Amino acid sequence: MGPLAGEDREVKRALGSVASVIAVALAAAAIGSIAPGRAVVTIWIPYAAFVTLLLGLSWRVVRWSLSPVPFRIPTVCGQQKSLGWIKAGWLESPSTTLGVIARMALEVLTFRSLFRNVRSRLEAGPRLIYGEAKWLWLAALAFHWSLLIILLRHLRLFVQPPPAVAVLLDRLDGFFQVGVPVVYVTDVVLLVALLYLLQRRFRDPQVRYISLFTDYFALFLLLGIAVTGISMRYFARTDVIAVKQLAIGLAIFAPAVPANLGPWFYAHLALVSTLAAYLPFSKLVHMGGVFLSPTRNLANNTRMKRHVNPWNYPVKVHTYQEWEDEFRDKIEAAGLPVERR
Ligand code: HEM
Repeated sequence: MGPLAGEDREVKRALGSVASVIAVALAAAAIGSIAPGRAVVTIWIPYAAFVTLLLGLSWRVVRWSLSPVPFRIPTVCGQQKSLGWIKAGWLESPSTTLGVIARMALEVLTFRSLFRNVRSRLEAGPRLIYGEAKWLWLAALAFHWSLLIILLRHLRLFVQPPPAVAVLLDRLDGFFQVGVPVVYVTDVVLLVALLYLLQRRFRDPQVRYISLFTDYFALFLLLGIAVTGISMRYFARTDVIAVKQLAIGLAIFAPAVPANLGPWFYAHLALVSTLAAYLPFSKLVHMGGVFLSPTRNLANNTRMKRHVNPWNYPVKVHTYQEWEDEFRDKIEAAGLPVERR
């Protein structure tokens, strides 16, 4: 396959994923605009997505917990605890549960392993050069934190009265007070971070080569959710009270079909539903997987504790002594030494 065929394939993956996201958004906007379709977009699809999310995540967790982990396999980059006079890395190679929790918390909250990520390139010579690659870390951190804050802020749309955390974040996030409605910093950061992550996949030939449909789809889906949400807030206002009634109705299993909430809302909700249903079956499930990963959640204490494989079953062995007893006469006849006379 020539290089052009490879590039064609890469372009197809990117275009296919953006087209899928646009198709979901347009279909939802069209179905929601006709009265009989409104229940499908506002009630049935969100419920189906939520059930898929719950079942999918449970299936994942059950599968993860069933996979055997007979050995301690934490990935570490520090000295393991052994003799008292050898300085151990309590965080880089944690030997206690507290150390594991501290390492995991820092990983989840600050993406420490991504911070250490380096880029490599081949120069004339040939010489392999390693360099800093902090932008990916920064964009990933900015994206995940903005997403979390936006989700927490959304609680004001689902809970009555809005929880204190949602009100507080709303105030902090809108501290710029640019125009009406107030511009949220996280909206801008989320968009910029997502666009950076996308352009990185397009621009870097190595990353583009290994990028699959699902890599683009996840990014375009999140971008679609951000764009439809932002459009609703700043350009095509929707009835937030009606959204709240719908959300509460869905939560207490007594949903009522709302009045027309506009195409942006139907597109937003359908894309969020797609994300929810897709999450357990995609790479996005790293969100939960990181906590269940034995390379991260096990203490590195193999020099302090003997770990016996819990699945060990009794094996019938034939010891050297038994073998020697069995062939003693032949070994002695051949003049070979034996351990026990
Ligand atoms: C993964 C989940 C979701 C993400 C990432 C997301 C993202 C966003 C973003 C970025 C905005 C722009 C304004 C802001 O930051 O608050 C927004 C607005 C909005 N979203 Fe979401 N959203 C999600 C889920 C939902 C759900 C489940 C609903 C409703 C059932 C919803 C309803 C709305 C509404 C009504 C607005 C406009 C709010 C306003 O006018 O102030 N969103 N969303």
